[in-house]
Amino acid sequence: MKWERKDLIGLEELTKDEIETVLDMAVSFKEISTRSIKKVPPLRGKTVVNLFFEPSTRTRTSFELAAKRLSADVLSFDVSTSSISKGETIVDTARNIEAMKVDCFIVRHSISGAPQMIGQSVSSAVINAGDGCHEHPTQALLDLFTVKEKMGKIQGIKIAIIGDILHSRVARSNIWGFTKLGASVWVCGPPTIIPSEIEKMGARCTYNIDDTLEDADVVYLLRLQRERQKENFLTSLKEYSSYYGINEERYKKIVKSGGFIMHPGPMNRGVEIKSDIAERDRSLILEQVTNGIAVRMAVLYLTVGTRK
Ligand code: CP
Repeated sequence: MKWERKDLIGLEELTKDEIETVLDMAVSFKEISTRSIKKVPPLRGKTVVNLFFEPSTRTRTSFELAAKRLSADVLSFDVSTSSISKGETIVDTARNIEAMKVDCFIVRHSISGAPQMIGQSVSSAVINAGDGCHEHPTQALLDLFTVKEKMGKIQGIKIAIIGDILHSRVARSNIWGFTKLGASVWVCGPPTIIPSEIEKMGARCTYNIDDTLEDADVVYLLRLQRERQKENFLTSLKEYSSYYGINEERYKKIVKSGGFIMHPGPMNRGVEIKSDIAERDRSLILEQVTNGIAVRMAVLYLTVGTRK
């Protein structure tokens, strides 16, 4: 299919065909990172700008490597030493950088809607690298890719997303993505951090982790996003861990049903997962990170490489 979108803001607005186009294209891009010379020319002459207003390890590095492997020039804009500290708005910042003839902005911001606002103000492509509690589309795309690669399909699988759903942009993007591709999506966590409207997105909600783990093909763990929690949602981390963390007993249950463990990172070892379980056979956590490059290469190719 022909890619018509200038920006990638969220999976809510993508069709099933568009999601599958990204996943199919990522299959061919994955092989490039296994070569000794990890570079192909489609974005030669294009400039990609990383505009990260929040910390990141995986997403920022992954976008930078993906753009470089497609031969783009990459500018990692340092927000802390920019004129934003003198009161310049993010839109003025983006418009001024665009005046230097760049082709794409990768935007992460703590405010939901910030990448969309920039996208409406510039003619360059804008890719959302995570905005507030709204969406993190490329995380969900790499998660879909990882599950499809591992299980051969998304249709009909059961994915259980466990933890801080209320503050999670990853949960929202994954609920949109997995439901559009025909998976059964369950969410589970303490009632204080499961938003009441989540079932309207197509997810099934439970507060009991043992019901959730029953026959789950994928157990997707989330970090408690304490930086976004404006009040106390939990009595203690120890209690959270005992009710919702993956311990030995719960890991055995996952193994018995042939399930996999996923996590977008960063992990809080000893809270949502017993530390050494993250390294065991059923964990796909580092495979997700590896696949992030191929998926972001596909997204960059579609949004930047196919534009006139
Ligand atoms: N998964 C994810 O968004 O990780 P970073 O915050 O390190 O980018």
